[in-house]
Amino acid sequence: MSRTVYVNGSFLPEEDAKISVFDRGFLFADGVYEVSTVLEGRLIDNEAHLTRLQRSLDELQMGCPVTMDELVRLQKELIKQNNLVEGGLYLQVTRGAADREFGFPKDTKPSLVMFTQVKNLINSPVAEKGLRVISVPDIRWQRRDIKSVGLLAPALAKQAAVAAGADDAWMYEDGFVTEGSSNNAYIITKAGSIVTRQLGNEILHGITRRSVLALAAESNIKIEERPFTLEEAADAAEAFVTSATTFVTAVVSLDGKQIGSGKPGPLATRLRQLYIEQALKS
Ligand code: PDD
Repeated sequence: MSRTVYVNGSFLPEEDAKISVFDRGFLFADGVYEVSTVLEGRLIDNEAHLTRLQRSLDELQMGCPVTMDELVRLQKELIKQNNLVEGGLYLQVTRGAADREFGFPKDTKPSLVMFTQVKNLINSPVAEKGLRVISVPDIRWQRRDIKSVGLLAPALAKQAAVAAGADDAWMYEDGFVTEGSSNNAYIITKAGSIVTRQLGNEILHGITRRSVLALAAESNIKIEERPFTLEEAADAAEAFVTSATTFVTAVVSLDGKQIGSGKPGPLATRLRQLYIEQALKS
């Protein structure tokens, strides 16, 4: 059975959903997106995702065709129409369709598209094994804090990982890790501190990052928000990534070199449990 997707005011079978070839999302990657977690049919941390969506829109001087309250209503309706229990809800706003000119068109209505994806997020086989990661240069633009649909560089990074027989890629710049292809990156030092890059234009301000760091602080785990090198990562006690679709997932090797025991470490495993418990309670 096909999914029901949402396109500019209509809930439609996915085969019937259409977007203009002049849509600026298609021509210029002139759009932003969010992926919200769905657990037990409920959106997790959705308010924070929509706050970040509004920020991305503001940074690009782009409007949204519906209010944030209406957006939540539409998200819930889409989850209901697809009977989604566990997975993700993808939403994308683009500047809309206009003749191809680089400057922003006047009076163009932004486009809104949403779809759901079924995924085992809690009992994820990948999380049990941990991720094997390779490092690649970060060739993205300089506003990675904006959740732009221009994702070719991360797609190339992920594909390089797949081609190398690994699971994902960590991107680096000037010798320091920025983040994963679609997640935030962390190491745990031998002294037991969590190290992750500080917020700035170089990384996406992860919603899961914020929740996980808050949980770590509550558990009195030391947090250092600073850049770390690939050498430091290879020598770390543990490593992990966070995102709306991976929660906390351990990283067990970097460029073929085992990290820690080569299995998901105790602290990453505990943080994953704490995060899931909190999400299920919310
Ligand atoms: N990616 N960094 C990057 C580059 C990302 O693309 C993502 C999310 C994150 C984690 O953010 P959050 O915790 O808010 O999901 C960090 C989503 C899941 C995606 O593109 O599918």
